[in-house]
Amino acid sequence: MKMNRPDSLNALNSKMAQELVAAFDALDADRSVRCVVLTGSDKVFCAGADIKEMARLSAEEISGDHLRPVWERAWKFRKPLVAALSGYALGGGLELAMCCDIIVASEGTKLGQPEINLGIIPGGGGTQRLARAVGKYKAMEMILTGGMISAEEAMAHGLVNRVVPAGKYLEEATKLATEIASKAPLAVRHAKQAIATTQEKGLSDGLELERRLFYELFGTKDKKEGMSAFLEKRKPSFTGE
Ligand code: CAA
Repeated sequence: MKMNRPDSLNALNSKMAQELVAAFDALDADRSVRCVVLTGSDKVFCAGADIKEMARLSAEEISGDHLRPVWERAWKFRKPLVAALSGYALGGGLELAMCCDIIVASEGTKLGQPEINLGIIPGGGGTQRLARAVGKYKAMEMILTGGMISAEEAMAHGLVNRVVPAGKYLEEATKLATEIASKAPLAVRHAKQAIATTQEKGLSDGLELERRLFYELFGTKDKKEGMSAFLEKRKPSFTGE
């Protein structure tokens, strides 16, 4: 499965979200599919939610959930999902990678949750899944500073399985997926379900809280300023309102 919106660095908008959900549905239903690789391009896995689309959404409108089905559907996908990252995996894009089961990244990939720079917080499960993946302290640093980390650093913190030479990420991810696809399908599915359950405890409450806080921020001046500044290619000036 390949995300392909090159002009917006594969930013997730409503249309792409619907297409991804439909593709996940089709692949889950296809009995001949045993494992799936989710990827973008060499330049970018996904630069997050589409800021151009989000910039005009109020707190009420964002709670209409234009993107949430993507992360939910990926997380509930019954077969193993291998994320093959290159370039950038940011915001909602990293959140999508974290809904996958194994993450392969090429050298030079940058990962981050930059939402704080837009006056908002991660809204696709990032506060919960990143903290579970890298621990509270690294998650705090990444989410509160909005800074990016390298694939190597991500691997050191358990956020990435393998870092491979540039140009090899898709090949390596496909190799892993092929190996998994050669195993007993029911055992694979049950193993995935059992491991995923360890991540679920308290997750629903956390996600519910995150969702409420994320929507709330769409009513603030800082959200408007953060997104306008990005689109106008200038530094934001935040006031705390
Ligand atoms: N949404 C919409 N458009 C985006 C985008 C995004 N998330 N990321 C990049 N683009 C667009 C840019 O606006 C630009 O478009 P124009 O050519 O029309 O100006 C084009 O893609 C190329 O981007 P840059 O010129 O910025 O490319 P770069 O190589 O200089 O920088 C980058 C790459 C560091 C990824 C930078 O584009 C960037 O910081 N993007 C935003 C990342 C971000 O903040 N993501 C979080 C989004 S919020 C979110 O995801 C919420 C959530 O949790 C659900």
